[in-house]
Amino acid sequence: MSVIRVRGLQNLHGEIRIQGSKNAVLPLMAAALLHSGIIVITNVPRIQDVFCMLGILESLGCHCRFEGHELMMDTRSLLLSRVPDVHGKQMRSSVILLGPLLGRLHEAETCYPGGCSIGRRPVDLHLSALEKMGAEVWAKEDQIRVSAKALHGSDIYLSFPSVGATENILMAATASSGITRIHGAAREPEIEILCRFLNAMGAAIDGIGSDLLTIHGGKPFHDVVFAVPGDRIVAGTYLGALMAAGGNIRLLGVPTEHMGGTLAAVRGMGCEVKAQHGDICACMKERPRPVSLCTGPYPEFSTDLQSVMLAAASVAQGRSRIRENVFEERFATAQELQKMGAHIIIKGKTALVTGTYPLAGGVVQARDLRGGAALVVAGLAAEGESRIYGYSYISRGYEDISRDLAAVGADLSLEED
Ligand code: EPZ
Repeated sequence: MSVIRVRGLQNLHGEIRIQGSKNAVLPLMAAALLHSGIIVITNVPRIQDVFCMLGILESLGCHCRFEGHELMMDTRSLLLSRVPDVHGKQMRSSVILLGPLLGRLHEAETCYPGGCSIGRRPVDLHLSALEKMGAEVWAKEDQIRVSAKALHGSDIYLSFPSVGATENILMAATASSGITRIHGAAREPEIEILCRFLNAMGAAIDGIGSDLLTIHGGKPFHDVVFAVPGDRIVAGTYLGALMAAGGNIRLLGVPTEHMGGTLAAVRGMGCEVKAQHGDICACMKERPRPVSLCTGPYPEFSTDLQSVMLAAASVAQGRSRIRENVFEERFATAQELQKMGAHIIIKGKTALVTGTYPLAGGVVQARDLRGGAALVVAGLAAEGESRIYGYSYISRGYEDISRDLAAVGADLSLEED
């Protein structure tokens, strides 16, 4: 079993090239199924969720080649419309195959999606929208099946700006007749990237970046080569590591235009940050100042960095408040941080943190992807050795967190226990 061993209290110095974005590349791989041809995506991160999505595409009949960070998908031989449970259960993104498969093969089937257990994570918004666009939806126990001879444009009103539901509707709408408008669409950068990818493939989407997306369906698709931007959550994670460890680092290949909320929060905690031309230079001279933040749909502070901020706040000089407004169960990591000496009290949706320094090295267990990364961040501010189990969660979204942080002087390694 893999375990990350961290010896804390080392300052960080140096630079890290940020991997391609997990939450951007997964919908692009799904969207490729809309077109019968050759799609090439570059700067693809070598993470478990990408390999899982590759497994799904190949099980459906596609031929893929993933060399270095370049992914070629030949979707001309797409044949099957049923996502194998073995893959579907591994990640949330299996659900966003419904839209493209419906658009290309007029049917799709998958088990209820897996992914981090951070809340109930229903798919009602996905299914009700597809139904409104003309699909027949069948959902019982653990299976979801959709079919439609022809999808048609529709006005879809989302009661919550769901990222995945917006992605599914966007992809289905490009293969529908007529015009689809998504009112209350998610505005996460990953939605903008998906819209740009679909338009590069031949779609006609207006309103990109806004919460009203208009899709003129039925346009012919063509082959495309597309580059995935850097991962804003991985970049934010490493800024959290810097706040815990101190020092100065440079992050290369970062989508700084999509990190406004993150940069404001870390600056508020005393981190000096200069963002220019896709790079971030950051310096942390002393313990973080306390923080008060709420997570929410973009452009509010990202829920995916909540656990990392919890770890940084655990060593801040004072009391912090962190409120989780997106997922109802995303504080599981607090229990593990408490084993390292963190003073965290959870009251409903809010974590009250009284900073203490240093933390104490301990044996802890990742409970989800971003929580696992947060434990690594905490280990950097702990006296002695920490051993973080549950690497299988972390490797879903981080290409090699040990490699990246060791490259800037952290004393940590990935070992077999
Ligand atoms: C995406 O998940 C991301 N995953 C998540 O990142 C991210 O936390 C989330 O968006 C919010 O930004 C990927 O892109 C692969 P949602 P998704 O649909 O699409 C509720 C990570 O760590 N909801 O916007 O599942 C839902 O329960 C992962 O990289 C419904 O009620 O997020 C949640 O409370 C974790 N009904 C809220 O909306 C629905 O039909 C946000 O979910 C769909 C969602």
